[in-house]
Amino acid sequence: MTNVHMEIPKVLEVNDLSVHYLTPRGAVIAANNVNFYIRQGEIVGLVGESGCGKTTVAMAILQMVQSPGKIMAGEIKINGQNLLDLSEAELRRRRWRELALVPQGAMNSLNPVLKIKEQMGDAIAAHEPIRGRALKERVLELLDDVGLPARVYNLYPHELSGGMKQRVCIAMAIALNPPIIIADEPTSALDVVVQRVVAQTLLDVKRRLGVSMLMIGHDMGLQAQMVNRVAVMYAGNLVEIGPVEAIFEAPQHPYTQLLIEAIPSIDERKPLKVTEGLTHDLRNPPPGCIFQFRCPLVREACLEARPPLERVAADHFVACPIYRYRRPA
Ligand SMILES: Nc1ncnc2c1ncn2[C@@H]1O[C@H](COP(=O)(O)OP(=O)(O)OP(=O)(O)O)[C@@H](O)[C@H]1O
Ligand SMILES: [Mg+2]
Repeated sequence: MTNVHMEIPKVLEVNDLSVHYLTPRGAVIAANNVNFYIRQGEIVGLVGESGCGKTTVAMAILQMVQSPGKIMAGEIKINGQNLLDLSEAELRRRRWRELALVPQGAMNSLNPVLKIKEQMGDAIAAHEPIRGRALKERVLELLDDVGLPARVYNLYPHELSGGMKQRVCIAMAIALNPPIIIADEPTSALDVVVQRVVAQTLLDVKRRLGVSMLMIGHDMGLQAQMVNRVAVMYAGNLVEIGPVEAIFEAPQHPYTQLLIEAIPSIDERKPLKVTEGLTHDLRNPPPGCIFQFRCPLVREACLEARPPLERVAADHFVACPIYRYRRPA
């Protein structure tokens, strides 16, 4: 049987991406040889504990890595074209139009002294020759797209709730109809109910505009409901990526397994599972598997070389030498 996913084109490809923060105390390897792709209309979730490199990957895709960060190697392809080959001017023209970002902590990035109509209007007018009544209509349409009432147009950010501000940021991200959106923890710092509202807003936007999305997040429950595939990062390395059902029902990498086991369940109360050990310093990663210090299954083969992602099934890859032993012949 052919898998339908195989025929859907890849809109974004990240190939062998490495990003280092060149600090006086050595290079922090925040992304090491990261490989993944997003198919058209797909939502890929990017999960992993704090500091594992999720925002770094997002910013690298947009080439907006903060100093002293530097893209050391890799390719970022949109519809087959490598963005790293483009000039800064060309990039600036295409960012937001082809690839929009809802940054981490987006709602705090709104300018407190500008009304929503001003910040949205100014941002759009900077990219499109649209002014006056047409601009006003465009802003109102975008507010409506994210389920906000028209009165928000005349309000200041401090007059909005967190969820409303986050939805304004989503409205700004979709302003130029980008085919790809990267949303960095769009629902963090919101209460559970508002989280769901914002998540639903993103899903509606996705359905209506047919965008493809990279959704960074911590909340595995929310990921389970929203995304098509989940990518799992650990200490700067992507250790597994696969269809959401496979990740939740049959995770292959020991770290993914621990993440899934850690999801609390009311039906089956169990002692809270804590992943033992600490992530090592990203300045001095060990040779071999990145998860070796915390892996309950570690064996000698894991200490030799960093395991590459290997294909497990359609659109499912895992970087684990142990998987190889368990793999059916
Ligand atoms: N400007 C910087 N200088 C030095 N190191 C940095 C800098 N920014 C990030 N890092 C390091 O890079 C690593 C990855 O950071 P990043 O912000 O990408 O993680 P994250 O997965 O997005 O975390 P979180 O879930 O907390 O947002 C971390 O170890 C962090 O300390
Ligand atoms: Mg982050």
